Amino acid sequence: MSGHSTYVPKSAVGKWFESRLPIMGLIHSSFVVFPNPRNLNYLWTFGGILAFMLVSQILTGVVLAMHYTPHVDFAFSSVEKIMRDVNYGWLLRYLHANGASMFFIAVYVHIFRGLYYGSYKAPREILWILGVIIFLLMMATAFMGYVLPWGQMSFWGATVITNLFSAFPIVGESIVTWLWGGYSVANPTLNRFFSLHYLMPFMIAGVVVLHIWALHVPGSNNPAGVEKQTAKDTLPFHPYFTVKDAFALVCFIIMFSWFVFYTPNYLGHADNYIPANPAVTPAHIVPEWYFLPFYAILRAVPDKLGGVLLMFGAIAVLVFLPWLDTSKVKSAKYRPLFRQFFWVFAIVCVLLGWVGAKPAEGGYILLARVLTAYYFAHFLIILPLLGLFETPRKVPASIAEAVLGKGGSANAMAAGAHAEPNTKG
Ligand code: HEM
Repeated sequence: MSGHSTYVPKSAVGKWFESRLPIMGLIHSSFVVFPNPRNLNYLWTFGGILAFMLVSQILTGVVLAMHYTPHVDFAFSSVEKIMRDVNYGWLLRYLHANGASMFFIAVYVHIFRGLYYGSYKAPREILWILGVIIFLLMMATAFMGYVLPWGQMSFWGATVITNLFSAFPIVGESIVTWLWGGYSVANPTLNRFFSLHYLMPFMIAGVVVLHIWALHVPGSNNPAGVEKQTAKDTLPFHPYFTVKDAFALVCFIIMFSWFVFYTPNYLGHADNYIPANPAVTPAHIVPEWYFLPFYAILRAVPDKLGGVLLMFGAIAVLVFLPWLDTSKVKSAKYRPLFRQFFWVFAIVCVLLGWVGAKPAEGGYILLARVLTAYYFAHFLIILPLLGLFETPRKVPASIAEAVLGKGGSANAMAAGAHAEPNTKG
């Protein structure tokens, strides 16, 4: 995937194998000697955390599927059976359900890290777009997974979201019938959602391989936002980043465990413990927390088709971000104005999430509209203009200089010769 391999197999069997399938050399060059920027902070550990969460979701999901029945008459009770009768079934289910939320926490940190440090800019545009594709696949997977327990929120969530496609003129109704496999959300729908929910994590895994491949061509961006040039700018992946990633992962797992063991239903909705009933609509149909900002955008628009287009547009706009942001400087550290707009944008996203959980009426609608307008303005107006009018601070000449001060050596730092690293925000 990257770099040149210095791997030399020790045993005769190793040599024999390596000359036929040089996989150890690939692992060695990608994850042992790979030169990583020496100034990466903890925000760069989230890619590894995401990889761990993907594996965790696949493993727990595969075992859950051994006990789950994708049929409208049995789905709800098969989940109850998992919770009560299957050995450690409760643990598997809580790991999987909370794992989805943890996955999204990690992916949002990962995305906002990229937004702050300009990781989407050249030469990492493809890497970024692959990330957006992963994000879309993750959302589709989570949405279909939530339908499987066949509780009230499962059923009504699926009904509301699939119905959105009816907004498209002429073909809308046919698309919805096709998605459902009938004339309402029913057994064929549950069956195909199960099939796709099982399939899609493996598609995600495939795109993740491309994502890491694309990452290893230029290597990681870093807090200074300048590319690595010499050996002074980097450290080998192992042990420096393997240990750092492992420490961050352990902290993350502690948080994950806290949810699983102390408040496993906190992130879920009580109504999903009521079996699906097509005759009774819940008082409020709310999606899982990670969909709320997009749900708010959907409901901000009075016109159904407009809402659907804007909701998908909110993700589609990310694809064009590398070209919408016109600034040559990557890191927000050296972009005083951008940094402020970044934080406003982050707050707008959180508020969109908050308002997405409220009923779509009165002041909430108005707020959702203002926030939605700002969301798009950030990408379509603010970022293109900022790059033209903002005066960035002086960017360090190299990563070594950013860390060690002018001259790029520890001695320069010790001598204090203009060594103040230009890294404080
Ligand atoms: C299953 C989900 C994902 C996995 C397993 C994953 C994995 C990784 C890994 C291992 C890295 C290198 C370590 C790091 O920089 O944290 C990385 C970097 C990156 N990822 Fe992801 N990623 C995922 C989703 C996403 C998404 C949704 C986006 C954006 C929409 C994204 C954008 C990026 C970017 C821009 C980088 C380069 C960051 C830099 O070098 O500064 N990733 N990813």
